[in-house]
Amino acid sequence: KKLSIIGMPMDLGQMRRGVDMGPSAMRYADAVKRLESIGYEVEDMGDIHVDHIDEERNVQPSLRNLKAITKAASRLAGCVDSIIKKGSFPLVLGGDHSIAIGTLAGAAQNYDNLGVIWYDAHGDLNTDETSPTGNIHGMPLAASLGFGHSQLTGVGGFHPKVKPENVVIIGARDLDQGERDLIKEHSIKVYTMHEIDRLGMTKVMEETIDYLKGKTDGVHLSLDLDGLDPHDAPGVGTPVLGGISYRESHLAMEMLAESEIITSAEFVEVNPILDEKNKTAEVAVALMGSLFGEKLL
Ligand code: ARG
Ligand code: MN
Ligand code: MN
Ligand code: MN
Repeated sequence: KKLSIIGMPMDLGQMRRGVDMGPSAMRYADAVKRLESIGYEVEDMGDIHVDHIDEERNVQPSLRNLKAITKAASRLAGCVDSIIKKGSFPLVLGGDHSIAIGTLAGAAQNYDNLGVIWYDAHGDLNTDETSPTGNIHGMPLAASLGFGHSQLTGVGGFHPKVKPENVVIIGARDLDQGERDLIKEHSIKVYTMHEIDRLGMTKVMEETIDYLKGKTDGVHLSLDLDGLDPHDAPGVGTPVLGGISYRESHLAMEMLAESEIITSAEFVEVNPILDEKNKTAEVAVALMGSLFGEKLL
C-alpha cells in the first residue's frame, strides 16, 4: 500500500493569512510516522509552489487572486494525476479549500464517475456571481461541477470534473442563497447538521457509502477542518458553531476505511496561527489515522 503526500501552502483563497502553514503543521503533528505505522509506504513529495502574491490581485474583486490560484491548481492537478497513474494514493495537505479545484482536476483524469464527499460546514458552491466575499475557497465544489468562471472550471483543460449526483456534502450549517439554489436545482445530496443529529453519524455514513458505492469508480474525500465543531478544531479561518464532533468524525473516517471506497483525500483549512497550540493539525492527523485503517485492537 503506497501513499504520496503533497503539501499545498495556499492562503490566497481567503482573507486570513497563516493557512499556508497548514502542511507544515500537519507534518509537525507526525502525519508521515502515523501513516507508516499503519503499514503504508509513505512518500512525502514536499510542497507545490504557490506564488506568494497574485500578480493580478486588484483586477477581479469577485475572484480574488484568480491567477495565482489557478496556476497552482494546475500544478497540483498534474501532480495528483501522476500519483494515481503510478499506483499510489494521493493525500493533499492544505492550504485553504480553493486547492480542491486542483486535486479534483487531477483525480478526475482517472475516473469516469468520480464521487466526492465534501466534509464541511460550508457548501463551497458559490460562483463569482453568487459569492458574498469573492473568496475562491468558497467556490471549489461549484467549479468542479462546472459552474463559475471558466478559468476555475477549466483547470486541467476539461469540465465538469464531477457530476452533481456523485457528490455528498456532510456537516453543512452555513450556506449562502446562491448555494442553496444550486443544491436544489441539481438535487445535490446534503447531510446538514440537522440530519446528522437526527439520524446519527452511523446512518449518515451508511447512506453516503451506499449512495456512492454502486455508481462511482473512485471517491475523493475533501475534508475541511471547519466541518468539525470549533471546540474540537479551533484553528480554522471560518469557524461555525454547532459542528461535527471529534468522535463523530473518527467514526465517519473509520466507516470510510471499512468501505474501501476512498481513492484520494485532502485535509484543508488548518491555520496554525489561529490554532490552540497545534490542536487542529493534530486532529487532522488523528483523522487520517482512522481514514487509513488505524485500529486500537
Ligand atoms: N460561503 C462563504 C464564502 O463563499 C464562506 C466559504 C468558506 N469556505 C471554506 N472553504 N472554509 O465566502
Ligand atoms: Mn502567504
Ligand atoms: Mn468550510
Ligand atoms: Mn470548505
